[in-house]
Amino acid sequence: MAQNFTRLIPFLLLAFVLTAFKTISAGDPDILSDFIVPQNVSDIDGKFFTYTGMRGVFDKYPTNFTVIKASMAEFPALNGQSVSYAVLFYPAGSVNPPHTHPRAAELLFLVEGTLEVGFVDTKNVLYNQTLQIGDMFVFPKGLVHFQYNRNHNKSALAISAFGSASAGTVSVPVSVFGTDIDDEILAKAFKTDIDTVKKIKAGFPKP
Ligand SMILES: *[C@@H]1O[C@H](CO)[C@@H](O)[C@H](O)[C@H]1NC(C)=O
Ligand SMILES: *[C@@H]1O[C@H](CO)[C@@H](O)[C@H](O)[C@H]1NC(C)=O
Ligand SMILES: *[C@@H]1O[C@H](CO)[C@@H](O)[C@H](O)[C@H]1NC(C)=O
Ligand SMILES: *[C@@H]1O[C@H](CO)[C@@H](O)[C@H](O)[C@H]1NC(C)=O
Repeated sequence: MAQNFTRLIPFLLLAFVLTAFKTISAGDPDILSDFIVPQNVSDIDGKFFTYTGMRGVFDKYPTNFTVIKASMAEFPALNGQSVSYAVLFYPAGSVNPPHTHPRAAELLFLVEGTLEVGFVDTKNVLYNQTLQIGDMFVFPKGLVHFQYNRNHNKSALAISAFGSASAGTVSVPVSVFGTDIDDEILAKAFKTDIDTVKKIKAGFPKP
């Protein structure tokens, strides 16, 4: 009995190490300095920690659903800080189609209008809500979620915070129908015919 247990120890250790690794890699890596300065930048001051790319962002309302991001790509000082922002414009009747952020939860704050939001968990349960100005909604990390401005007369505006400097976005319709996945595979996956798949694909021209 004791001998059997001894033989199991390496496997238990491996399981422990894998579990620990999974925990560590579940968010942005911790950094061993206060902040990270890009290699090609020498002198930094308060400017480095300031993002001015959103100035004037509220001056003109776009005609289509629009996301403006301030992530590590736009704002290098976010590297290693595990945070980022996005400003989201929803013209009357517009939708932010189902998508996921593989590396972060999203905390959405509704500033203007009303907004129907929802996500689906790994048991395929839908959790949805209609937000009023001042409401916040959290989309858990990695889960498929959407937002819809059901009001066809009034625009909505939200600001989202992410728990990653580079949350990433995977759009469900684009990744499925806007890529080269074979029509036959999609027809079988969606329990439909190839003509229907071709019709849907036509709405997602490849760049
Ligand atoms: C540093 O390199 C990045 C990426 O190549 C570039 O976008 C940025 O403008 C550069 N910064 C400076 C100060 O040269
Ligand atoms: C907005 O959407 C309309 C209709 O879907 C499209 O024709 C137009 O090109 C879009 N405009 C922009 C700026 O993307
Ligand atoms: C949630 O979704 C269901 C099904 O689509 C819908 O009938 C309901 O109105 C939604 N609830 C809210 C609060 O938006
Ligand atoms: C939008 O406006 C039209 C006419 O102006 C009205 O009939 C409709 O009920 C309004 N819809 C909403 C959601 O307020």
